[in-house]
Amino acid sequence: MKKAKITGIGTFVPEKLIDNHYFENIVETNDEWIQSRTGIKTRHFAADNEYTSHLCINAARNLEENTGCSFNDVDFIVVATVTPDQVMPSVASQVQNKLGIPAAGAIDISAACAGFAYGIILANGLISAGTHKKILVFGAETLTKVTNYEDRTSCILFGDGAGVVLVEAAENTNILATTTGSQGDGGKDLYLSTRRKQVNGQDIITDGKIHQNGRAVFKWAVNTIAGQMNTLPAQCGLTMSDINWFVPHSANLRIIEALCNNSGYPLEQTLESITIYGNTSSASIPLALHRGIRDGKVKKGDKIMMFGFGGGLVYAGLIMEWG
Ligand code: UT7
Repeated sequence: MKKAKITGIGTFVPEKLIDNHYFENIVETNDEWIQSRTGIKTRHFAADNEYTSHLCINAARNLEENTGCSFNDVDFIVVATVTPDQVMPSVASQVQNKLGIPAAGAIDISAACAGFAYGIILANGLISAGTHKKILVFGAETLTKVTNYEDRTSCILFGDGAGVVLVEAAENTNILATTTGSQGDGGKDLYLSTRRKQVNGQDIITDGKIHQNGRAVFKWAVNTIAGQMNTLPAQCGLTMSDINWFVPHSANLRIIEALCNNSGYPLEQTLESITIYGNTSSASIPLALHRGIRDGKVKKGDKIMMFGFGGGLVYAGLIMEWG
């Protein structure tokens, strides 16, 4: 049986930096409310002609710079996104073309803010099955293109960005434990509509923008993920105290605090991307992890537990060893 190993990371955010005061001219809000209720200070907006595939290419170039890896023999590409350039063709196939990779399979996956963790779990499965050897897994979003700028409860949250990891066949794996789950009856609480006008039998807004019942998602995330955090380490013979870093989806700093409170995990050992990048959905975990690596916090051999959660409602978590 082949083993899957995460061997490198790259990230990218668009140039345009937006602070909280920007929203004071758009909706009734202020910097103090945004910072105290969400933790967000700034986020990045993609330019009008900058789409998710562009962010992926830039993140891949960053991965190349960081690791010196070659993309020539990549045999599969997964892009986790809810904001593809188009529904078809996939972002992954555009990335294959732009990176000039000759023989890679390519798919987009839809698991919202849990997408990046789902992508790694898929790559782990493909490599373990022996069908693939070298996989790029992206979490990439241009959420600001589907944000409702009349809704003050959501427009202040979102930012754009991308992250990518390389997952390769190796002698030993560094993906130690995984878990996935779904609670589809909460679909109505966080959606981005295209055609159908109902979710869970309830009427929804079909304006092609993100809509969420923030309080309901907040409560679900804290209750569900805190429990999962407590049970996942046992899957690979570890306890919570063996986990050096917790990297949750960065949706709200208060969610991260509540997760630590409820699970008993130390807040100072968390990595986040919410304060400077806002909520970037599937990109939030790689952005936080890469930030932790660049800041010298994450060391070779550290055990990292990541948990993505969001629209579906779905979650995915894993424990990996860095390096
Ligand atoms: O990434 C995918 C997963 N998503 C999440 O995990 C999101 C989870 N939810 C959240 O992060 C939070 O629920 C929000 C940040 C979305 C909202 O924070 P909240 O503390 O739950 O606020 P709330 O919706 O309960 O609203 C509290 C008050 C309301 O006023 P009243 O009714 O108490 O008078 C809102 O109208 O805050 C008001 N409010 C605002 N005030 C100033 C809501 N948005 C704003 C705003 N500025 N931007």
